[in-house]
Amino acid sequence: MFDKSDARFPIKSREVFVNHCGIGPTCRAAVDAEIKIAQQHVTEGTTVANGYDAVLADLRSAAAELIGTVETNMSFMRNTSEGMNLIANGFPWQAGDQIITYRYEYPSNMFPWVLQCQNHGVDLVLLDNTTWDGQPTDSTTPIGWSLDDLERKLTPKTRMVTLSHVQFSSGFAADLRALSDLCEDRGVLLVIDAAQSLGCMPVNVDDYKIAAIAWSGWKWMLGPIGTGLLYTSPEFRERLQLTMAGFNSMAHSLLGSDYLDYTWEPITDGRVFEYSTEPLTLAAGLAASIRDNFLQYGPVAVFEEVTRLQTILREGLAAQDTYMTAGPADAHRSGILSVTTRPDVADADGSMKLLIAEFRRRNIRATVRCGYLRLGPHYYNTDDEMRTVVEAIHNAAGR
Ligand SMILES: Cc1ncc(COP(=O)(O)O)c(C=O)c1O
Repeated sequence: MFDKSDARFPIKSREVFVNHCGIGPTCRAAVDAEIKIAQQHVTEGTTVANGYDAVLADLRSAAAELIGTVETNMSFMRNTSEGMNLIANGFPWQAGDQIITYRYEYPSNMFPWVLQCQNHGVDLVLLDNTTWDGQPTDSTTPIGWSLDDLERKLTPKTRMVTLSHVQFSSGFAADLRALSDLCEDRGVLLVIDAAQSLGCMPVNVDDYKIAAIAWSGWKWMLGPIGTGLLYTSPEFRERLQLTMAGFNSMAHSLLGSDYLDYTWEPITDGRVFEYSTEPLTLAAGLAASIRDNFLQYGPVAVFEEVTRLQTILREGLAAQDTYMTAGPADAHRSGILSVTTRPDVADADGSMKLLIAEFRRRNIRATVRCGYLRLGPHYYNTDDEMRTVVEAIHNAAGR
């Protein structure tokens, strides 16, 4: 059913790529779309700008379809951090307001909030680390957080809860349903960093009460580096002050190019955050990837295939005694399968040198982060590729 050919994913002819939780490879469709615009720019010059609005509109509409919203809620970004900063800097904080996040978030979901502590006297409250089944732990290896802890830490001063859908280190996926219900119940805004989920796991914003979602285009999304997306709900967007303003943030820019009209009239939809000339080639690349991968097959089918491929890895891991999967197969499952070592085995110092060396010998691409070897296969990986990874694990285990 899936076209997994090298033609669509040229990386396959070079290596077994299971590092989509890192910098993902771009797909052929994305690069073709980028080249088309770059080519037009070099041969036709200014006329490339005739397609400017259409390219960006196409990206917003593809991204909106991916998450089940309307294109007016979407904005093109450079990365996840840009989206998070637009939110963090634009929210009307009062001194003493609280923001809650998890203590081991990726920096894109930490520094924008730390900045608010410095600039506005906001308190950043950190959820404690837990085991996979939600029990408190003193371990400094990141795993996840619990709703119980969140519930205890919510106070009348909490304005926002901001969490990754999937933790970059362990692959712990949040229960978005329960998280969104709790935040809605307590009248607290929910912001999600979906860099490790969208492109792999389905998220339909209509199913939840989420104020904003920011994510990168260059991991699971298989798009160009330097791209990201931001979803904002209309009610939330209305509450955000602009922190960047330019011609393209203003409603009259939609009517034509009167560069001397300085009327302050911001656009009310997501385009307001695309304040000036955007990187058009990259926008076209990301749109092409969304359409050629995730809209073609549907995000549910994509995640089912990732899960099926992961099962081959899980079974392979279960058949040897050195390495083991960190998390359970069902609850908190994501695209990232994190692997650790059993105690008292050859590779047990956490660096996984033997396994990484074996991967290198077989051209398998994966990374170690925070004590885990992260395996992040995508839907276009094959069963054979998974078996190559399993063989490498068994070989390293036998050393
Ligand atoms: C959870 C999470 N958020 C965001 C990012 C990337 O952030 P940015 O797009 O700002 O580089 C990563 C990258 O690994 C991540 O794991």
